[in-house]
Amino acid sequence: MDRFLVEGGRKLKGTVKAGGSKNACLPILVASLLTDEPFILHRVPNLRDVRTTLKILTALGKKVTFQNGTVTITADGALKNTLPYELVKQMRASFWVAGPLLARFKEAVIPLPGGCALGARPVDIHLKGFERLGASCQTERGNVILSAEKLEPAKITLRFPSVGATQNLMMCAALIEGETVLENVAKEPEIDDVTAVLNKMGAEIFADDKGRLVIRGQKTLRGAEHTVVADRIESGSYMIAAAAARGDVRVEDCVPEHNSILLECLQEAGVPLEIGPNYVHVKPYDGPLKPTRIKTAPYPGFATDLQPQWMALMSLADGAAEIDETIFENRFMAAPELVRMGADIVTEKTLARINGVKELSGAHVMASDLRGGFALLIAGLCAKGTTEIERVYHIDRGYEDPEGKLNALGANVTRYNPDKDDF
Ligand code: EPZ
Repeated sequence: MDRFLVEGGRKLKGTVKAGGSKNACLPILVASLLTDEPFILHRVPNLRDVRTTLKILTALGKKVTFQNGTVTITADGALKNTLPYELVKQMRASFWVAGPLLARFKEAVIPLPGGCALGARPVDIHLKGFERLGASCQTERGNVILSAEKLEPAKITLRFPSVGATQNLMMCAALIEGETVLENVAKEPEIDDVTAVLNKMGAEIFADDKGRLVIRGQKTLRGAEHTVVADRIESGSYMIAAAAARGDVRVEDCVPEHNSILLECLQEAGVPLEIGPNYVHVKPYDGPLKPTRIKTAPYPGFATDLQPQWMALMSLADGAAEIDETIFENRFMAAPELVRMGADIVTEKTLARINGVKELSGAHVMASDLRGGFALLIAGLCAKGTTEIERVYHIDRGYEDPEGKLNALGANVTRYNPDKDDF
């Protein structure tokens, strides 16, 4: 398995471009199941999770090509409505196929996604929503069997604004004639991108004056062509890396307002920024990095997907900072690895207290999830000496060519595989 060797202490200077959003393109690719017409998606990042999703679409009977950031999906005979466990176990987001398959076949057999490193991550909100739309949901031998005589539009209130449940239910309702109303939905920018694609396909989806999502579903949906929105988590990750390394870095092709809370927190921490229409310039600074408390929350709150990266940054702050992780029950896995690099972090349930230190030291560490893995990369860039990061496949799930993008800024990150390379 690949590892990274990161040489610490190098100045970061230059421009890094954000790619298309992983968390928008995954559900959008799945939305292609709602039609037999050709479906074209541009600015698709070449990530492990994207390749897994394309395998899922192929396993369900679609013909898929992926070249230079463009995915083309066409029908290739009848669609299947059961998904092999092999693929679901690799990626929780494969459960998003439930909505489209239920809508098209009125019957689908989908392996339940197990928990993951972040916690249990049940799908009860998805299933309750499908039941409100008229489906029965039985769980049997690790699969959920969804079936419905007829699906009916409904008014559904989500007990929590789950991103995945919002997307799954939107896609299902888009093929149910009539008006479905979803209340207490997630409002992440990725939801807007899925909405834009479903509307291009012929659904009529809009937010009403109470912030509810109204879906006027259709009997059939057309194909569509779309360009994925910029990845706010990738761009935010590079902004934090630049701030930690006190570099001079311009993150381009991004949507600054999708990161407004992060930008606020960076400025509060004393990091000078120049914010443009589609770029954020993180400027060098000599002053102290001020400890800045964050509390993760559904959008537009501080993104849980940027929390581990913020923890790495606060490891070098001039004082004590706190993190309150309200979304996942176990999202501090980077903490013990950062402590091995000299950070002073104490975690207690969903609270982390970080007492900033003057310097981190390079160490041999292990990534356990994609965002925590990037946090270790950030720490390695700032540490004295070399850091070796194992299980880089976690980082590859959500970041395209991270070593290439960082080395273009002056970093020295080497990818190697001890089983293959005689490094
Ligand atoms: C999406 O996951 C993202 N993944 C996650 O990004 C992100 O962290 C998360 O939203 C929150 O923003 C994709 O978009 C592919 P949720 P999702 O449903 O949809 C609980 C990354 O780093 N919950 O909003 O699975 C759940 O356990 C990944 O790119 C239920 O209890 O997140 C969690 O505690 C990691 N029942 C909380 O809600 C349900 O039915 C948020 O989950 C669904 C969720």
